[in-house]
Amino acid sequence: MKPIKVGLLGIGTVGSGTFNVLKRNQEEIMRRAGRSIEITMVADLNIERARELTNGECEVVSDGNLVVNHPDIDIVIELIGGYGIAKDLVLKAIAQGKHVVTANKALLATHGNEIFQAAQDKGVMVAFEAAVAGGIPIIKSLREGLTANRIQWIAGIINGTTNFILSEMRDKGLDFDVALKQAQALGYAEADPTFDIEGIDAAHKATIMASIAYGIPMQFDKAHVEGITKLEATDIRYAEQLGYRIKLLGITKRTNKGIELRVHPTLIPTRRLIANVEGAMNAVLVQGDAVGATLYYGKGAGAEPTASAVIADLVDITRLATADPEHRVPHLAFQPNAISDLPI
Ligand code: HSE
Repeated sequence: MKPIKVGLLGIGTVGSGTFNVLKRNQEEIMRRAGRSIEITMVADLNIERARELTNGECEVVSDGNLVVNHPDIDIVIELIGGYGIAKDLVLKAIAQGKHVVTANKALLATHGNEIFQAAQDKGVMVAFEAAVAGGIPIIKSLREGLTANRIQWIAGIINGTTNFILSEMRDKGLDFDVALKQAQALGYAEADPTFDIEGIDAAHKATIMASIAYGIPMQFDKAHVEGITKLEATDIRYAEQLGYRIKLLGITKRTNKGIELRVHPTLIPTRRLIANVEGAMNAVLVQGDAVGATLYYGKGAGAEPTASAVIADLVDITRLATADPEHRVPHLAFQPNAISDLPI
C-alpha cells in the first residue's frame, strides 16, 4: 500500500515535537497505523529553522498554500495557531479534499462550526485531540471511552501556564510576572499570554469539551470567563490557611435550564486530588451517569506531550482513511455532531 502523505504547517514548539516523535517512534507508529506515514512537505515562515529540523528529509516551503494545494498530500497538520492564516489554510485544505489534524483550540472554539460543516460537506475528517489538555487523551475519552454516558459535568485544570504560575507563586513565593516569564520560556504559554492569564485559552478548551460531551455546537461567546490576573499572593496564602487551594478551573455542567460553561479561579479543599495538580500539569474530572467520576491527569502543554496527541489523530485518520469508505463514519468519529439542542 502506498504511504499516506502528510503536510505540516508550522514547526514551532508543537510542530518540531511532532516531527521528532514521528521520526523517533516511526516503526511502532506505522505498525499501529497499519500503513506507512510520510511527511511530504513542511511549511514555516522561518525556512532556515524548517531546513535544520527536517535535514533534507522532506520538501520545505515558506508558503502554506503549497502544502494545502499539493496534489499528493492526504492529511494536513495545522500547528500555526490563531485565527488568521490558520483558518484560511484549514478551509483551503478541506476544500481540496484533505483531512486535517489541528491543535488549534482558539480556531475551533470560535470558527469550529464553519470548519466542521465544510468538512462534512466535503467528506473529510478534522481531528483535534491536541487542542484540549495537551497529551491527555480527553477528547477520545469523552467521545469513545465514555460514549455510553450522559455526561453530567466536567471540571478541569486545562491551562498549564496559569497552573504553573499559581504553583510557583504559592511554593516559591515568586511574583506573578516572573512565573509567567518562566512559563513562556518553557514553551507553555500562548503567543499572546493574555489568552492564558485571562482564562480565554481555558474557555476555548472548555467550549470544545462541552461540544463533544453534550453534542452541541461550539459556543465560546456564551462562556463566562475570568482569569487569574486579579489574584494576589495574599489570596493564595489565606486560602491555604483555610485548607483550600486556588485553581483556575474550566467547568461545564448539564443543568435543568441548559448547559453551564465557565472559567474562573476556584477554591478547592486541599485534600482533593485535583487540588494537588501542580506546575504545568493538567487534570480533567468527568462525571458520567453510568461510570461515575473519572479523572484524567497529564502534561497539558509542551512539545512532545502535545505531539503525542497530534500523532494519535494522525494514526486515527490514517486507519479510517485506509478503511473501505463504505464502512467508515468519519463525521461520527470526529465531529461534535449536533445531537442535542441544549442551550448554554
Ligand atoms: N498555553 C496553553 C497552556 C498551551 O498553558 O496550557 C497548551 O494548550
